[in-house]
Amino acid sequence: HKVNQVHRTGYHFQPPMNWINDPNGPMYYKGLYHLFYQYNPKGVVWGNIVWAHSVSKDLINWEALDHAIYPSKWFDINGCWSGSATILPGNKPMILYTGIDPKQRQVQNYAVPKNLTDPYLREWVKPDDNPIVDPDNTVNASAFRDPTTAWWADGHWRILVGSKRKHRGIAYLYRSRDFKQWVKAKHPLHSSPKTGMWECPDFFPVSLSGQNGLETSVVGQNVKHVLKVSLDLTRYEYYTVGTYDKKKDRYTPDNTSVDGWGGLRFDYGNFYASKTFFDPSKNRRILWGWANESDSVKDDMQKGWAGIQAIPRRISLDASRKQVIQWPVEELETLRGQKVQLNNQKLQQGEHFEVKGITAVQADVDVTFSFPSLDKAEPFDPKWAELDALDVCAQKGSKAQGGLGPFGLLTLASENLEEFTPVFFRIFKAPTKHVVLLCSDATSSSLGNGLYKPSFAGFVDVDLTKKQLSLRSLIDHSVVETFGAGGKIVILSRVYPKLGVFDKAHLFVFNNGSETITVENLNAWSMKQPLMNAPIRK
Ligand code: FRU
Repeated sequence: HKVNQVHRTGYHFQPPMNWINDPNGPMYYKGLYHLFYQYNPKGVVWGNIVWAHSVSKDLINWEALDHAIYPSKWFDINGCWSGSATILPGNKPMILYTGIDPKQRQVQNYAVPKNLTDPYLREWVKPDDNPIVDPDNTVNASAFRDPTTAWWADGHWRILVGSKRKHRGIAYLYRSRDFKQWVKAKHPLHSSPKTGMWECPDFFPVSLSGQNGLETSVVGQNVKHVLKVSLDLTRYEYYTVGTYDKKKDRYTPDNTSVDGWGGLRFDYGNFYASKTFFDPSKNRRILWGWANESDSVKDDMQKGWAGIQAIPRRISLDASRKQVIQWPVEELETLRGQKVQLNNQKLQQGEHFEVKGITAVQADVDVTFSFPSLDKAEPFDPKWAELDALDVCAQKGSKAQGGLGPFGLLTLASENLEEFTPVFFRIFKAPTKHVVLLCSDATSSSLGNGLYKPSFAGFVDVDLTKKQLSLRSLIDHSVVETFGAGGKIVILSRVYPKLGVFDKAHLFVFNNGSETITVENLNAWSMKQPLMNAPIRK
């Protein structure tokens, strides 16, 4: 099978071909990072799901192993769906996953490594006492899946299983002393009305002091918790920051965190079914997420592949304690090659300039903008408070003249701007504060047909006293993954330029606001290609 390479990514994770979705069971074991993922060995659309398996020493260069978990027993004969890894005492990894049984019921199974001395963990055994969690008669057996990493407290292991009852999203809680006998708790850990099915829940502690990650079982004074769920109705994820009471086994979101579709997102673009793990080798928590294609199935057939994983992100609690911050893992910087740097460049209204000297199609761009004052910020229309940021971005795109902004980057642009994906800020003035909008607008990204070209956007709560805003964009052929304001907001977009491909892609900086913007500092690098899922010889 030959794959068409035009939109294939250079450094984002993907296998050589076929469909992928959720990242599964990420973990660190004996010097290696393991990533499993939902994979169709037979085609470019979802189906025949197995756990494909890759390993890496640095989260950037990947080697592919044989599939770790695939249908072979009655309790997973119709599919091996998403799940998580837990490292048990004695450094013993254990996988929990959802199996689809002969009656199409979703059941929770466990698998253990055949040989703990193999750091590659090539072979996994699924003992015959599976499943360990069955849907009881109060549970909807076709909406009962995606077990989390377990955490331990007061003599019991605990896991969550995502579910729904009518329109209420639910994270069921199960407890076990021995990891085999699991009992459903009387109350779910948390639930929320009108959110629909909670896929891929993730629940983890974050430190109140500093960016170090915490092992999943940490509780106590110096800790908050994050609960994230993936909503299959909107195809977005949302999370809350809150408090976990281990005695009551209940999680309560803080009153600064909205529970529901209007809540905080890890990513305001194409990013789903994400999962974190604790990396003890660098004391950090790392977030993986899946980015689907935004082209047609017909295009996917031609490409021979569909789906990528986002760049792994270090995740921690922001100093405000109201949200998380995310940043690409530092190892990504080992791929930086040819560099260009600019300082102190002014951009008046309507101006743009090109950043030359790097491969704009496969690049890492880090830029800080400044502005002399906030006076020219346009008024924030109260009607927008009712809208999704995406609708505001669609109305007030990069071409619309503004006051303070729009300013930012034009990524994956053709030479004469027939195509471009702008990533930009607009700053508005609300009665009591300023509101910052970050947009990643795919509307003009391609002259091609049959593409989904959303105006992804989010509002970000950022301190503007220094009159500066920063952007970092990871550009990779059909990916623009942008970290705004130091990682307070992230947007991943998938775009498919016709003209702006390979060495025909360009990168520009622009300002369409009446306030003059200064590019204080811009660093841009060509990105090298890592080893991406070459098979390991046995
Ligand atoms: C999320 C999801 C999970 C499920 C898996 C199946 O994308 O629907 O809920 O376990 O994908 O591939």
